[in-house]
Amino acid sequence: MTRGKAGSAWRRRCCEGRRRWGSPAGVSGFSLLLSAHPAQCVMMTYHIREYRPGDYETVRELFATGMSEYVPTLCIHMLKQPWVILVLTCTFSLLLTSSKSLLLPILAVTLLLAMGRQLLGYFWSMYIDRCLQEDLLDIQATYLGHKGSCFWVAEVDDCVVATVGARPSEEHHKELMLKRMSVRKDYRGLGIAKALCKIVICFAREHGYCSVVLNTLMVQHEARAMYEGVGFRKYHHYVLPTVYGRLASCTVSKYRYDIPSAD
Ligand SMILES: CC(C)(COP(=O)(O)OP(=O)(O)OC[C@H]1O[C@@H](n2cnc3c(N)ncnc32)[C@H](O)[C@@H]1OP(=O)(O)O)[C@@H](O)C(=O)NCCC(=O)NCCS
Repeated sequence: MTRGKAGSAWRRRCCEGRRRWGSPAGVSGFSLLLSAHPAQCVMMTYHIREYRPGDYETVRELFATGMSEYVPTLCIHMLKQPWVILVLTCTFSLLLTSSKSLLLPILAVTLLLAMGRQLLGYFWSMYIDRCLQEDLLDIQATYLGHKGSCFWVAEVDDCVVATVGARPSEEHHKELMLKRMSVRKDYRGLGIAKALCKIVICFAREHGYCSVVLNTLMVQHEARAMYEGVGFRKYHHYVLPTVYGRLASCTVSKYRYDIPSAD
């Protein structure tokens, strides 16, 4: 999940202000001057356009890959939970006092950690599968069948490298929900996600929505920083009201970007 901050800073310094905003539903072109080394700047252009049926597999794969990257961060989050620390400490202490050997408690704790990692990976992939069976099952019908919703991809050299969707929120019909933001790992830190956010905001403004809203999970630190950088503000957060949600302190943060009224 980490990115080389020094390299990224250089890449950002290299980015030239040659972006142009097109119609949110149409195609927008963005040129970025990129380089791994100051002496070798190369030009990369990415385009943002509406989703086409041929993007189906890539979009689903981008989403699944982006989300599956969170397993290590989730493991660290779980290891910070008081009940997990208690279980591991008690197991270690009990086995140490009963066996009078270090080997058994170390093996037992390692086994528990490995099982926990597998279990977490399993539940997380179930969550990803559920998303793939919801709005991402028929992207065309969910996002492009109505005037008030849309799905975009960013492509570099005809290759889709990022995605975002937007559809009316279930809670408030004047709110547009931003969903399925994902950028391929090797194209991160270049401003593609921020550009996609701005496309969604433009779309919301053009379609008369009063705000853009989105949900993030407690482990999505980069995403939260990115949304805040665009101007989204956190307005609510809660722990998922399920057994698993409480066990994992699974916190959902809701963000909003208010569209200023035209008058
Ligand atoms: C979150 C994500 C979409 C960001 O994409 P991106 O194209 O790298 O983001 P951008 O380059 O447009 O924006 C960069 C901003 O994101 C934040 N950011 C990105 N990576 C970061 C990192 N490793 N550490 C801290 N902040 C980070 C910063 O605010 C940064 O702004 P800055 O460049 O001014 O410092 C991308 O990391 C991703 O696809 N993650 C996996 C899927 C996911 O979490 N989606 C969000 C679902 S809510």
